[in-house]
Amino acid sequence: MNVVMLGPPGAGKGTQAVRLAEIYGIPHISTGDIFRENVREGTELGRRAREYMERGELVPDELVIEIVADRLKREDCRNGFILDGFPRTVAQADALKAMLAGEVRALDHVVNVEVPAEVLVKRISGRRTCRECGTNYNVHFEQEEVGEACRECGGQIYQREDDLEETVRRRLREYEAKTAPLIEYYRDEGLLRRVDGDAPPEEVLASIRRVLEGGGESG
Ligand code: AP5
Repeated sequence: MNVVMLGPPGAGKGTQAVRLAEIYGIPHISTGDIFRENVREGTELGRRAREYMERGELVPDELVIEIVADRLKREDCRNGFILDGFPRTVAQADALKAMLAGEVRALDHVVNVEVPAEVLVKRISGRRTCRECGTNYNVHFEQEEVGEACRECGGQIYQREDDLEETVRRRLREYEAKTAPLIEYYRDEGLLRRVDGDAPPEEVLASIRRVLEGGGESG
């Protein structure tokens, strides 16, 4: 199953993609995670991506497209993948279509996770992330206190640099200008599956599974 997770920053794409990858036994490919890892390791790619990420802007298409093309060629993508954070522009969507066509593959579903803007800001400002395993927590929504150590692996919990308020606003503007047009793009292709993301994570997961497994709302 070849799936794209679409939606604004903070919609819960990453949270759900991790679970879906486990359930369906296919890799979760997050371009944001790939960039953050490269920034942490101080690679040339990380150095180039960092300036855009810190400003809340999209990294240029040519940097992203090559990374995804390489990643999708790996053996573990043979039975499918969950793309999270890619494509984010029409040029990226066109490039993805060409990459898959070249290997006689195609997307099966584009899941658009819909969440009202005011909820997005609260979610992002409350997000805390594990530096080691990437697990996300939220100081606003979780019953258990989010401490300094990850409950999964004991790694250090931190707040993403691009989750500061001004940067979040810029990311939301970037989303509206450059990524939201993909909703029409994929609707026209008959691939769009709309899911209400403004519900507890377990409910959102169940809605996504329904649409992926054929019983739910489309379009
Ligand atoms: P990226 O890492 O992809 O960031 P994003 O799209 O802004 O997405 P987020 O990670 O903020 O949100 P999410 O939807 O995954 O939500 P999450 O599950 O974490 O990209 C970062 C940067 O990299 C970009 O700004 C850009 O510079 C660059 N980049 C990446 N890809 C690129 C591309 N293709 N082209 C160009 N540049 C690119 O959830 C958010 C919070 O809410 C968490 O705390 C979570 O615990 C909580 N939460 C989740 N679901 C629920 C729920 N149902 N109820 C309550 N809380 C919830």
